[in-house]
Amino acid sequence: MDHHQSTAQKHHRFSLPIVIKRQLLYAISFLIFLIVSVFVFDLLPPFEPHQLSRFGFLSQILLNNKKSSQGSCNYSYGRWVRDESYYKIQSYDETCPFLDPGFRCRQCGRKDVEYLNWRWQPKGCEIPRFNASDLLERSRNGRIVFAGDSIARNQWESFLCMLGQGVHNKSTIYEEHGKPITKHKGFLSMRFSEYNLTVEYYRVPFLVVVGRPALNSSTEVKMTIKVDQMHWFSRKWVGADILVFSGGHWWNEDKTVKMGCYFEDGGKVNTSMSVMEAFQRSLQTWKSWALQNLDRESYIFFRSFSPVHYRNGTWNTEGRCDVDMQPETNYMNLEPEPVNNQLISDMIKQMELEYRNSKVQYLNITYLTQFRFDGHPSVHREPGTPVPAPQDCSHWCLPGVPDVWNEILYAHLRSMGFKTK
Ligand SMILES: *[C@@H]1O[C@H](CO)[C@@H](O)[C@H](O)[C@H]1NC(C)=O
Ligand SMILES: *[C@@H]1O[C@H](CO)[C@@H](O)[C@H](O)[C@H]1NC(C)=O
Ligand SMILES: *[C@@H]1O[C@H](CO)[C@@H](O)[C@H](O)[C@H]1NC(C)=O
Ligand SMILES: *[C@@H]1O[C@H](CO)[C@@H](O)[C@H](O)[C@H]1NC(C)=O
Ligand SMILES: *[C@@H]1O[C@H](CO)[C@@H](O)[C@H](O)[C@H]1NC(C)=O
Ligand SMILES: *[C@@H]1O[C@H](CO)[C@@H](O)[C@H](O)[C@H]1NC(C)=O
Ligand SMILES: *[C@@H]1O[C@H](CO)[C@@H](O)[C@H](O)[C@H]1NC(C)=O
Ligand SMILES: *[C@@H]1O[C@H](CO)[C@@H](O)[C@H](O)[C@H]1NC(C)=O
Repeated sequence: MDHHQSTAQKHHRFSLPIVIKRQLLYAISFLIFLIVSVFVFDLLPPFEPHQLSRFGFLSQILLNNKKSSQGSCNYSYGRWVRDESYYKIQSYDETCPFLDPGFRCRQCGRKDVEYLNWRWQPKGCEIPRFNASDLLERSRNGRIVFAGDSIARNQWESFLCMLGQGVHNKSTIYEEHGKPITKHKGFLSMRFSEYNLTVEYYRVPFLVVVGRPALNSSTEVKMTIKVDQMHWFSRKWVGADILVFSGGHWWNEDKTVKMGCYFEDGGKVNTSMSVMEAFQRSLQTWKSWALQNLDRESYIFFRSFSPVHYRNGTWNTEGRCDVDMQPETNYMNLEPEPVNNQLISDMIKQMELEYRNSKVQYLNITYLTQFRFDGHPSVHREPGTPVPAPQDCSHWCLPGVPDVWNEILYAHLRSMGFKTK
């Protein structure tokens, strides 16, 4: 299916000295997958606990109404509030048929439920309640696309379950090509047949092309990331009504240059290009592609980085996230915002300037997500995972944290007046 991906995999396989069985290859890919990104740090703006006032409730409501009527709620900033009723009323559960086994943490043995008792409270305003019927109605005859790495898939599955709540007969929602949702494929397209709507996921960890290096490049170059060419899946995104992009977990040295995967620009391998320079260059490529190919009517989102949470080590040095049962409350324990985010946000700002009347939005979820050490599968990995496997502190249990990202996505769509024709 995904030609470039399979080329890359073959290439990788041939470059290893031993014959690798399929399962081992999967295990290795998964480990690589979990590598914590290496960041250049920026300073986080100081948290203002006194401003998250417990007393100014009434004034918050007043402020709220004013702000939301102007559609200018700053969803990115606020705090987690304990609310036991939240998931019971608002959410789907692990029986949702669109969830990977690896995201169903309770079915995988997680006993504590405290991670489900928290709702995100933006400062000074409210996130509108996610209304699946409303969003389905607004999306009729439409296409919604999620493109990115496995965290994007995590978000996509959350979105399917949330939206699926508006449909009584779940059998009317199916994968268009009959592909099983639990297997990791290049792309999946779920049709909500009662609404003539598809919600699609494309696996593109880098957004741009990954493939064989240019001819006669040096032998240390095993693969290249072609920062000036959009992934060929991008052709399928044209005409979508809502597009949610993301990226970040693969943009680090461990998953690129240290594996012999270098950057290529203008048909030439450039071994001196740093990972962040390459990321920025790819974002430029993405922006030009979007300006040239996407309809003015498309709603374009770029989600910010989803933090990983390994305490006492990294993914491969027995780092863990199974000790946290509640969100972190001490902002001093949070990582600074990764530089990836600034690059994305700057690119979105440039796009807004060049693309008048644009419906483009930076989906800033990093800060709120940083508190959620407790939301990961940790040791409650998919059944069949080898026992000494590292903890999964990068993906998210579902229901869980990505639901909030989708609530914010919905909030933006509403305030932007989204509706398909
Ligand atoms: C949201 O609030 C935070 C904290 O006050 C601030 O750093 C950020 O710039 C605000 N974002 C927007 C889009 O206003
Ligand atoms: C994202 O939101 C957080 C919290 O409001 C803010 O501190 C940060 O500056 C925002 N990031 C960007 C790149 O706008
Ligand atoms: C959800 O949206 C539908 C359709 O717009 C509307 O009829 C219904 O009242 C909404 N439900 C809630 C709880 O707001
Ligand atoms: C379904 O939506 C597509 C556009 O995505 C449209 O061309 C087609 O006519 C719609 N089908 C029906 C039965 O409304
Ligand atoms: C649910 O939808 C499926 C597929 O369209 C259909 O075969 C089935 O009869 C429906 N079930 C009910 C109870 O309506
Ligand atoms: C690759 O080969 C072509 C033709 O033989 C030559 O012109 C070019 O300089 C070579 N490029 C590199 C990077 O060696
Ligand atoms: C390689 O990339 C760096 C950083 O983007 C750039 O400064 C340099 O000019 C590039 N080299 C070539 C040969 O294009
Ligand atoms: C993490 O390391 C610190 C210091 O080495 C130790 O006090 C703490 O108990 C460790 N925590 C876990 C969960 O292993």
